[in-house]
Amino acid sequence: MDTITKNKPDTHQDTFPINGTDYIEFYVGNAKQAAHYYQSAFGFQLIAYRGPETGTRDTASYVLQQGKIRFVLTSALSPGHEVAQHVLRHGDGVKVLALWVDDARDAFKKAVERGAKAAIEPQTLEDDHGQVTVASIHTYGETLHTFVERNQYKGAFMPGFQAKESLMKVEPIGLKYVDHCVGNVELGGMNKWVEFYQEVMGFKLLVTFDDKDISTKYTALMSKVVSNGNGFIKFPINEPAQGLKKSQIEEYLDYYRGAGVQHIAVATDDIIHTVDELRRRGVEFLYVPDTYYETVLERVGKINEDLLELKRLNILIDRDEEGYLLQIFTKPVQDRPTVFYEIIQREGARSFGKGNFKALFEAIEREQELRGTL
Ligand code: FE2
Repeated sequence: MDTITKNKPDTHQDTFPINGTDYIEFYVGNAKQAAHYYQSAFGFQLIAYRGPETGTRDTASYVLQQGKIRFVLTSALSPGHEVAQHVLRHGDGVKVLALWVDDARDAFKKAVERGAKAAIEPQTLEDDHGQVTVASIHTYGETLHTFVERNQYKGAFMPGFQAKESLMKVEPIGLKYVDHCVGNVELGGMNKWVEFYQEVMGFKLLVTFDDKDISTKYTALMSKVVSNGNGFIKFPINEPAQGLKKSQIEEYLDYYRGAGVQHIAVATDDIIHTVDELRRRGVEFLYVPDTYYETVLERVGKINEDLLELKRLNILIDRDEEGYLLQIFTKPVQDRPTVFYEIIQREGARSFGKGNFKALFEAIEREQELRGTL
């Protein structure tokens, strides 16, 4: 089977309206230090905080923002806490992919009626700035989707949090919005979770990649991308495929101890500036050999950017029927080889960089070899 792409969003009635990504929450070992990394390296502004000083005794959370992207970093203050247990098992990782909706109670009710497993019943939180209603369901692994209804709220983030500004001078790097969030699931899990998003949340199957699309000499994976009604939410779901050696997905599943978020793609309008800054600030990227740039323009045609600049920064290029895209992948951002980032600039293209899969997976394999997992 070849790649199947359905690029046009379905204009039929949206059975599960979602406005966009509300926030992404990470459970981490040391939220205070992680918050510094996202401020100093990625240029996020600190906007809110919740912890002992604000009346929450058992956790500390830092809310960071750049463009429309909001990250929450949470640590536990005691070993028995659910957040500490999550970090012990998974390492630092994504716990919540929160979705902004107009009616969180209705979203939760519909999702559960259609087969989602309830995680946290709807509750309305209130402070001087208004009301936020939240409710959560389970998705793959121990990951949650939290529905957030915030039309009646004017505060920094959510009731319970206090507005807090960065103590350091933060220089944003041009990150705009979450383009897509990728989940890695166990062998046989991909279709189950694709069906979940289709049946429970009204998502559409956007594209299918099989192991012929995504394989190198040694490793393979399969992937399907689902997207919500307005097309703002895109969730590729990967599962390992049979290869000669351990795939990057199996390595992730081993280290994460199960299914979870593999990478978050964040969009920029100026990837050269964004990546230049990230490199200057010490963020590590996967390495693609210079030979990639000898033939890439034959494959992708004319682009507006200076190829020498792209080569200097090791940025990858791909094209589809609608335009081209520029992308690059960081190394994992914690010691376990689990979560990493993709930086993406879309110049018309709505695809995911299929033309770069081979170069990319060979780059990952070089890292796996260094880790002794290939
Ligand atoms: Fe991606």
